[in-house]
Parts: sequence; C-alpha cells; structure tokens
Amino acid sequence: MAMSRAAAAVRQRRCGPLLPAARSMASWFGHVEPAAKDPILGVTEAFLADPSPDKVNVGVGAYRDDDGKPVVLECVREAERRVAGSTNMEYLPMGGSVKMIEESLKLAYGEDSEFIKDKRIAAVQALSGTGACRLFADFQKRFLPDSQIYIPTPTWSNHHNIWRDAQVPQRTFAYYHPESRGLDFAGLMDDIKNAPEGSFFLLHACAHNPTGVDPSEEQWREISHQFKVKNHFPFFDMAYQGFASGDPERDAKAIRIFLEDGHQIGCAQSYAKNMGLYGQRAGCLSILCDDEIQAVAVKSQLQQIARPMYSNPPLHGALIVSTILGDPALKSLWLKEVKGMADRIIGMRKALKESLEKLGSPLSWEHITNQIGMFCYSGMTPEQVDRLTNEFHIYMTRNGRISMAGVTTGNVAYLANAIHEVTKTN
Ligand SMILES: Cc1ncc(COP(=O)(O)O)c(C=O)c1O
Repeated sequence: MAMSRAAAAVRQRRCGPLLPAARSMASWFGHVEPAAKDPILGVTEAFLADPSPDKVNVGVGAYRDDDGKPVVLECVREAERRVAGSTNMEYLPMGGSVKMIEESLKLAYGEDSEFIKDKRIAAVQALSGTGACRLFADFQKRFLPDSQIYIPTPTWSNHHNIWRDAQVPQRTFAYYHPESRGLDFAGLMDDIKNAPEGSFFLLHACAHNPTGVDPSEEQWREISHQFKVKNHFPFFDMAYQGFASGDPERDAKAIRIFLEDGHQIGCAQSYAKNMGLYGQRAGCLSILCDDEIQAVAVKSQLQQIARPMYSNPPLHGALIVSTILGDPALKSLWLKEVKGMADRIIGMRKALKESLEKLGSPLSWEHITNQIGMFCYSGMTPEQVDRLTNEFHIYMTRNGRISMAGVTTGNVAYLANAIHEVTKTN
C-alpha cells in the first residue's frame, strides 16, 4: 500500500529520505567479496559439475565402499534402531552426553586409565573433530593469551583456519620429507628442540592428513622425550582412530606413549571417519589436568566457551556413539567394521602400487604402501594434478593428495594408468 504523504513526512523526519535509505540498505553488504573456495570442498563441486562417465573423485576425505558408494555401518544402523523413539528431544547438558564422553575417554586414554578413575580429565562433547580443535584453540587463547601453536608442515588445511580464527599465532614445524616421501624426523626433532620452552604443538595422533606419514613407535618415544625436556604441550588431533591400522588401540599408541611419560595432553576425537558419522558432528575434546579440582574448573570453562557459540551439542550422533561403545556386542561389530574399512584401503594401496609397477613406471611408488590412513601423498605436482583432472576427469587436491577411500577395484587401473601418463614425462 502506498504511504500517505503525512506518514512519509514522519518517516522522513525519523529516518531520512526513502530513496537514500533504501540504497544504503542495498549496500550493507555490497563490499563483501566471495570467499576463497575451500581447497578440499571445491574439488567435490568441480567433480559434480563434470558430466564425464569416467570421472573419479579421490579428493574428498569420506569413505566409499568398493562400488564407490557412501557407507553406513551396520553397527550404526542397529544403534539407530535401538535409539529410535527411545528418548525425548530435550537438550543435552552444556558439556554434552556424559555416556558418550565416558566411552570416548576409554577409547583414547585406555579402558583402565588411571586418569579416568582419578577424574583428572576435563572433557566435553564437541562438534566432531573440527569443533573439538576449535574449542581447544579458543580455550588456549583465553587462558594462555600469549601462547602460539606449532603446526606440522603440511597439515589438514583447516587447522590453519581454526587457530587463525581463534587468534592464536601459528608457527610451523618440519614434518614431511618430500624426497623420501616419508617423515622428516631430523627436521621435526630440531624444531621441537628449537621452539621456546613450553610451546603448544599440534600432533596428528595417527594417519597424518594429508601425508599418510606417521612416526614409528620408537620415533614417538623420542618425540615424547624431547617434549618432556622442553616442557611442551602436546595437543593430539585424533580424527582417524581405528581407521589407520584397523585397530583403535594401536592407533592410540602415540597418545599412550605420551601418557606413560607423564605428559598432560589435549585430545580432539572425531567419529566422522571411524564410525562413518560425518554429518552427525559427533566428537569429544579432552584435556588431562593436574587433578580433579582443576579438571572441574577447565570443563566449566570449556562449557562457557561453547555456550555462546552453539549452547549445547547435538543429541543424535552422541546417542549412536554411546549405544555402540556401551554395548559389548555392538562394539565388537564396530571393531570388525572399522577394520574392514581400513583393510579395504590398505588393499587399494597395494593394488595402486602394483598397477603402476606393472605399467612399467620407472618411479618408486613404495610410499603408497608405506603411508597409512585415508590419504596417499603421491608426490605429484599441481601441474600433474591439473592434467589428471583436465585429461582424465580425476579430481583431487592440487597438493597431490589421493583419498584412498575413493579408490575401488573398478577404478584403480584407470587411476594408475592416468597417474603413469602424467608422471612419465618428468
Ligand atoms: C586431521 C583432521 N582433523 C580433524 C578433522 C575433522 O573432521 P570432522 O570435523 O568431520 O570430525 C579431519 C577431517 O578431515 C582431519 O583430517
């Protein structure tokens, strides 16, 4: 309805003339430029837009079965059946599901951990691994505002975003050795030694993303020892427990070594990969404290950081996790299924390496089977990756990271052939 002249005059007195006001409304966000594409999620977008029937997506870090299809674990389906209709939809407590946290701590710290018994661990349910890292980063900024975080080179790209947005200054430490496509152990030890006493370090507990390169047990012991000498704080990002070797206990070895050596640690856990709960955002953040009193204080502060962000964490994923881990039969089904996923990936590593060798590739592809977890850091250059995409419709991040979860019996030969084609001229 048209505004009467009197009403327009009143409005004009209060708010100024209509037209400029409307224009200024239109320009509220005129200065906002599109954000840079996420290097990982951008790959999926490009893959989806490609009409080629040959296209292969080895970019995204999500498990696929041997037909290239997303997987819902049988233990998850069974937990869903049990959970359906069994609870109301009330909020979880601010710190999340007590049962889910209890089970998560057993998984990370060990079934009989003295730290759990002594109630020395401050833990909250988190929005999967990303949310756990972000909560920790915010906690670090709030309570140790002058601290920095040492992040491996390279790392999961989102680590940089997380600590940047939490306004924690970042430093890097040597991790990957491009020539050997393995660990730069000497460089890593030097950087640990040279970091200022009492620094925070981000460590991938297992299945390092993107390199698939993990320290050996012996090397973890040396790292832990050097952390003790320098009084550094280890923050473990454990996004792949069970997914690397097929055995969650084995994949927690680095954490256990640090615990044995008497470190206080932080730990981010995720159920995205090892239970296939990607979209449920189920995870846990824990911090080992001096004693129960400190743990209570730290937990209350973590909750206070979470409160204005999302108030309390989601219910459904937490119910699934606690139902599976709290029931011996369902837990053993999960252990079998997580091993099945890890074994399929290990099998595909072998198949890819053998296919490249059969094609007569003169290059060494040993690293494909030496690396572990979801990713193979192939050593291909961005230009070679571009050729894979443009000529063969194979999609991956330009750092040459192949998600082994996307490799199947049906596409491994095609992938090997394409890799051989783009690498043989260099
Ligand atoms: C090293 C690492 N940390 C954390 C995450 C977090 O994943 P999510 O937030 O889905 O649990 C990922 C996922 O790719 C990862 O690779």
